[in-house]
Amino acid sequence: MRIQAERLSYSYQAGSSFSAYALKDVTLTIEEGEFFGIIGHTGSGKSTFVQHLNALIKLPTADKKFKPKKPKKGQPAPVYPSLVIGKYDLGDKKTNFKELRSKVGIVFQYPEYQLFAESVYDDVAFGLKNFRSELSEEEKTVLVRDAISAVGLDYESVKDASPFDLSGGQKRRVAIAGVIVTRPEILILDEPAAGLDPLGKKEIMELLHSLHRDWCKTVIIVSHDMDEISENCTRAAVFSHGELKFVLPPSELFLHDEELKALDLDIPVTAKVRLALKAKGIDVQTDFTEEDFAEKVLAYYKGVRA
Ligand SMILES: Nc1ncnc2c1ncn2[C@@H]1O[C@H](COP(=O)(O)OP(=O)(O)O)[C@@H](O)[C@H]1O
Ligand SMILES: [Mg+2]
Repeated sequence: MRIQAERLSYSYQAGSSFSAYALKDVTLTIEEGEFFGIIGHTGSGKSTFVQHLNALIKLPTADKKFKPKKPKKGQPAPVYPSLVIGKYDLGDKKTNFKELRSKVGIVFQYPEYQLFAESVYDDVAFGLKNFRSELSEEEKTVLVRDAISAVGLDYESVKDASPFDLSGGQKRRVAIAGVIVTRPEILILDEPAAGLDPLGKKEIMELLHSLHRDWCKTVIIVSHDMDEISENCTRAAVFSHGELKFVLPPSELFLHDEELKALDLDIPVTAKVRLALKAKGIDVQTDFTEEDFAEKVLAYYKGVRA
């Protein structure tokens, strides 16, 4: 499913001035199959944007009470924000939003705090109760088992455990299983690696790539970690004060180092070292992944010594 957002604007205080907009005129297409990054400062509109994608925040035209404004004489008809994901038009109140939500899963920041059931099994199965109540117990068990295995946990040894007895990393995996259990085509994660140590971060990113390969066609991560973006994403969108500033693959995005710094955003360590080398007259062309960068720098020094 392709995501097509056009002119998305949103304010938490309806009727206030334009400066209070959490989202301003955002037009963005995310293709099926991407591993997409969303970056920006706290308060830049990232969460507001992703909440639109599974209709936690609905478009004005999807409101039950919505009536299109009649254009004034001689004026063009008003243009409303629009959001289409695959066959789902999120601006249409007749859309099956429940079905949409099972296809577009969101894992919130620190999702482990929302675990509540007595067993890992019940917690993961809860996601199905909401969306797939027509399934038999046997069918549910298969889906729950597959979701728990997909997040890298051993089903037999964790299914009856209390989620509260698991480690932090395991809890986060259970929370992710509770979202992917409906088999969403699009999986969105708000700061999936927040609060984890470097090894935990690496493991969670590996998990997301394995889910991207075998489970969800599109993965979207919200992150403020530029190294995470440069290492993992096909493209990234940069938000600032509710506006979309860039949508580029990391290999092009981090060439805009001055503009990113002007937005008070960090750049990956590879981009920093590249700048330091550039100041010494050494120009390294790289896609900003650590592997590519190390390879290019080594090739350069081999060339110098030869
Ligand atoms: N529930 C809310 N009520 C009022 N204002 C909100 C709410 N959530 C977010 N905002 C405001 O909307 C803007 C965008 O916030 P948000 O989308 O949460 O940004 P981010 O996820 O990038 O930190 C901020 O100015 C924030 O204060
Ligand atoms: Mg947020």
